[in-house]
Amino acid sequence: MTTLITNIQELLQVRDTNILKVSGKDMKQLPTIKNAYLLIDDDTIVGYGNMEDCKNIEADTVIDATGKVVLPTWCDSHTHLVYAGNREQEFVDRINGLSYEDIANRGGGILNSAEKLQQTSEDNLYEQSVKRLKAVMKLGTGAIEIKSGYGLTVEAELKMLRVIKRLKQDFPLKVKATLLAAHAVPKDYKDNKEGFVDLVINEMIPKVAKEQLATYIDVFCEKGYFDLIDTERILKAGKSHGLIPKIHVNQFNAFGGIEVAVNNQALSVDHLEELNESDIAMLKTGNTMPVALPSCSYFLSIPYTPGRQLIDAGLPLALASDYNPGSTPSGNMNFVVSTACIKMKLTPEEAINAATINGAYAMGISSMYGSITRGKKANIIITKAIPSYAFLPYAFGDNHIETVMINGQIV
Ligand code: NIG
Ligand code: FE
Repeated sequence: MTTLITNIQELLQVRDTNILKVSGKDMKQLPTIKNAYLLIDDDTIVGYGNMEDCKNIEADTVIDATGKVVLPTWCDSHTHLVYAGNREQEFVDRINGLSYEDIANRGGGILNSAEKLQQTSEDNLYEQSVKRLKAVMKLGTGAIEIKSGYGLTVEAELKMLRVIKRLKQDFPLKVKATLLAAHAVPKDYKDNKEGFVDLVINEMIPKVAKEQLATYIDVFCEKGYFDLIDTERILKAGKSHGLIPKIHVNQFNAFGGIEVAVNNQALSVDHLEELNESDIAMLKTGNTMPVALPSCSYFLSIPYTPGRQLIDAGLPLALASDYNPGSTPSGNMNFVVSTACIKMKLTPEEAINAATINGAYAMGISSMYGSITRGKKANIIITKAIPSYAFLPYAFGDNHIETVMINGQIV
């Protein structure tokens, strides 16, 4: 079954060679073919080029994209999309003056979501998550990472990961799972954080690895949550079971977590709203992808990750949604890309690179996703008719997407 998309006004992110990420000045380049065609065979991109070279190509289905932009689907490398219920009351509490920290300190926040999740059946959790997954696919997400971390007991963490596994089996988009057992210290371990870290290391990690329920290991490395020693212990334990580190770090405080991550060959370090010079120097020594989550900064009114500074230092940058009930109740990657341009001063080219190829790198899938490259999965967005691709982040808040194709199928 072949599909030919013709008369594409701009075909973005065309990479003849299968690069895995883009860094520094290269992020300003978004290789584009104007007046292009794209040829898909089954679930794979097999050809592209200028319309002049399309004359002899035949296909089972032809889609005319006159006036439209075609680009790879978003690769959202950091979400907590599986959760139970919502926390709109905390949102109102913050408007009325409480801080995110105040709310967590009085037992709200992550512990509030954990309580809800523990009381929710696996099927119900699956149904709630399906709604969100379908919605983000419609918004152009074609690959997604999903974390556990609202379970906080062995049973509830496994329940979350089984739901993620079901989503992976039931939906066409690429799903990668992360064990984030160390997301908050549960109430029962309030005065025994070590005991909880032991539980994560001795029970959760081995069980999850044995059942092959996750690829990545995450820790919320932050004051009041897990310190450098906890983080190091958990990452090392994860690695010894084949899980790859990918951590929450520098959201509210910079105190050395990036060094621990880089020294443990983390695939990504995520948040980075607080960043100092030594963190940047550390990132330059490794292959760890810095990931910014601008919708979280927007929602919590906290600083934006200094993405401009990271890119200007020659580093790569990825953008992700952080979709979760507490700090980012939105999985809309179009908003993420706009906000990165508006608030972090990324150019549209940089933001699109960050949300496609570099997002794919941050979930270890960039050899098959994140660019228009022969042999990669046919995961593409076709926009409505728009003046040019810069219009996507510019006209923020509107949905410019007309069609989303995943594995060559319209969703
Ligand atoms: O990435 N920072 C830690 N975890 C989530 C938010 C958790 C919550 O508030 O539910 C985040 O922002
Ligand atoms: Fe997160």
